[in-house]
Amino acid sequence: MKFLKLFTPFKIKNMVVSNRIVMPALHTNLAKNGFMTDKLNNLYAERAKGGCGLILVGGCYVSHYGMGVPMMIAADDDKFIPKLTEFTEAVHGAREDVKVGMQLYHSGRYSMDFVIKTTPISSSATYSRFSKCTPRAMDMEDIKREQQAFADAAVRAQKAGFDCVEICGSAGYLMDQFLSPIVNMRTDKYGGSLENRLRFPLETIELIKGAVDEDFVVGMRMAGDDMMEGSITYKNKIPIANAYEDAGIDYLNITGAWHETKVPQLTMDVPPGCYTYLAENIKNNVSIPVFASNRINDPVLAEQVLMADKADAICIGRGLMADPYLPEKAIRGELHDIMHCIGCNQGCFDGLFAMKPIGCLRNARLANEAKTELKPITEKKKIMIIGSGPAGLEAARVAAIRGYEVHIFEKEDRIGGLLNIVHIPAGRHEFYRMLEDYQYWIQKYGITVHYGTEVTTDVVKEFNPDFVFLATGTLPIKPPIPGIDGEHVYWANDALNGDVPIGNNNVIIGGGATGIELAIFIAKYGKLSLEAFEFLTNYKVLENDDALSKLYKGNKKVTVMEMLPRCGANLGKSTKWVLLDKCDMLGVKFLTGVNVTNIAKDSISYTDASDKEQVLNDVDAVYYATGVKPNNELFKEIQALGFVVERIGDVKKPATVLEAVGTAFKIANKI
Ligand SMILES: Cc1cc2nc3c(=O)[nH]c(=O)nc-3n(C[C@H](O)[C@H](O)[C@H](O)COP(=O)(O)O)c2cc1C
Repeated sequence: MKFLKLFTPFKIKNMVVSNRIVMPALHTNLAKNGFMTDKLNNLYAERAKGGCGLILVGGCYVSHYGMGVPMMIAADDDKFIPKLTEFTEAVHGAREDVKVGMQLYHSGRYSMDFVIKTTPISSSATYSRFSKCTPRAMDMEDIKREQQAFADAAVRAQKAGFDCVEICGSAGYLMDQFLSPIVNMRTDKYGGSLENRLRFPLETIELIKGAVDEDFVVGMRMAGDDMMEGSITYKNKIPIANAYEDAGIDYLNITGAWHETKVPQLTMDVPPGCYTYLAENIKNNVSIPVFASNRINDPVLAEQVLMADKADAICIGRGLMADPYLPEKAIRGELHDIMHCIGCNQGCFDGLFAMKPIGCLRNARLANEAKTELKPITEKKKIMIIGSGPAGLEAARVAAIRGYEVHIFEKEDRIGGLLNIVHIPAGRHEFYRMLEDYQYWIQKYGITVHYGTEVTTDVVKEFNPDFVFLATGTLPIKPPIPGIDGEHVYWANDALNGDVPIGNNNVIIGGGATGIELAIFIAKYGKLSLEAFEFLTNYKVLENDDALSKLYKGNKKVTVMEMLPRCGANLGKSTKWVLLDKCDMLGVKFLTGVNVTNIAKDSISYTDASDKEQVLNDVDAVYYATGVKPNNELFKEIQALGFVVERIGDVKKPATVLEAVGTAFKIANKI
């Protein structure tokens, strides 16, 4: 791949950016009382070394009212300038020509009262389902004070050595709250017509521009389409972009929609590059640089977007969290070596919601860069890894890079373990990318895979390794329900793997992640493929409506039975609603708060949420997704032989892929 555009410099006003990869603002939960920390310095210095052109840092809250969550970076007081200066020095010190900007952030009604310890403020007192708060409408004093806060923060950014600032005017934050007619109910000069609704952002821009040096770049991040009923659609974003350009904004960074929208923005099921048309829409109507954003996780796709003239630069956010060296690797032509973001959100978005520091399923080093460099070994030793699921593969990769002789023992004829299954349901396909990445590293680092080898103590003795990693994963828990051994009752993973039949009227027992994913799989079973859809509609063999109905779903019925009051308890916050909505769209039926009491040949008996006996008839297939237990029988036996053995992944206790990969990295880097 030649990369004719991605690695060419471009200018924003007079600021030269060395290439077109922009790291957009990503909140990390790593600041301490608003102050920059060593962890933040190291995290971003690593991304600068990795070769991206521009790094945007934040969001950095410009006023106490604007604080979204604790552990955000603050820019609302001069006391933060020294640490901010240390930060820009660390980033510029890591690579001289990298540009670094501060994102000026104000969450308005997305602030939570328990965080800011007062009622949040917004254009109007319009309830937010994101923060679950009703703000108070800003009066004139609030308006002037918060606008000034943006300008003051911009000055602090400049003093601290940032090369630019970006106003966070996207995702439904304060600027959007003034722009949108579904939030802004004001009847004064800040509400009503678009001209009035634009007044708050435009006055803010004017204040900022008046406060910083003339040459200092001021960008704006804006939603490409609010995707909220009654709010601003992408076609109506053009006058807003034009107004920003006229007000002196130097670049526009176009994202997707709001946090409150019911259209997924960041999850794995969002097709890579899906929202680039939003940047194109703006680019066609302004003359300042435009950035495209969201789910562009690969330099090849980034190049294609640029070559198609959809944007002037590409935001790669989680992609650079997963692999800071993505740009360098692309320049060197080492495309296979890139650790791709798969949009799982387990460590980043979901981690933040759980108030944890940012993490990454693909990159266990994230947010701990200084302490996790891979240490080359001094003495070559032989490592035996039993099992090749995500933990086994990550341990193999890390140990091999460090110089160990690594052997994976896999009982199947393919590597991947659970990865071979979790990527199957619609929208979960990115897990397959993980598998492809590891397949490459196995070759690259000379890892030996012993396929079709069921490990016994004899195999271990004969192989005589220096270390053993037990990564044999889990086994299903079969619930003790009468009839569970019936011929038409199967384990969920066997269905996903294609090892057992799918019925016409299916019941899944267990509404956790696996049960929900299986429900989606079954509801879409036998549907038209995208290629077939395109072919048949191009040739007008099928009418569009007819073809569409066959494209979205198959012809199987699914009911999920869950004993808890809600399904998806073990799914991350950002993914749960997406999968549950998808089930709704597919007509999956949920019975929650129920207890299955008997499985007969063609029916299921259960007690419902109000303890009434019920029967579901005409059921021809039942699948249980009722949890797993560690498959660790070999552990003690190998230990008894006197070998050093570590359990990784979920052999110790059931774990998420994030946890499995994280512990595998840690242990493989420690030995
Ligand atoms: C954990 C996390 C935190 C984020 N924080 C911010 C933020 O503070 N400001 C902002 O404009 N966007 C924020 N975003 C959105 C990202 O900048 C980016 O647009 C999004 O992740 C999609 O790009 P990607 O698919 O390349 O990651 C955040 C995204 C994630 C995953």
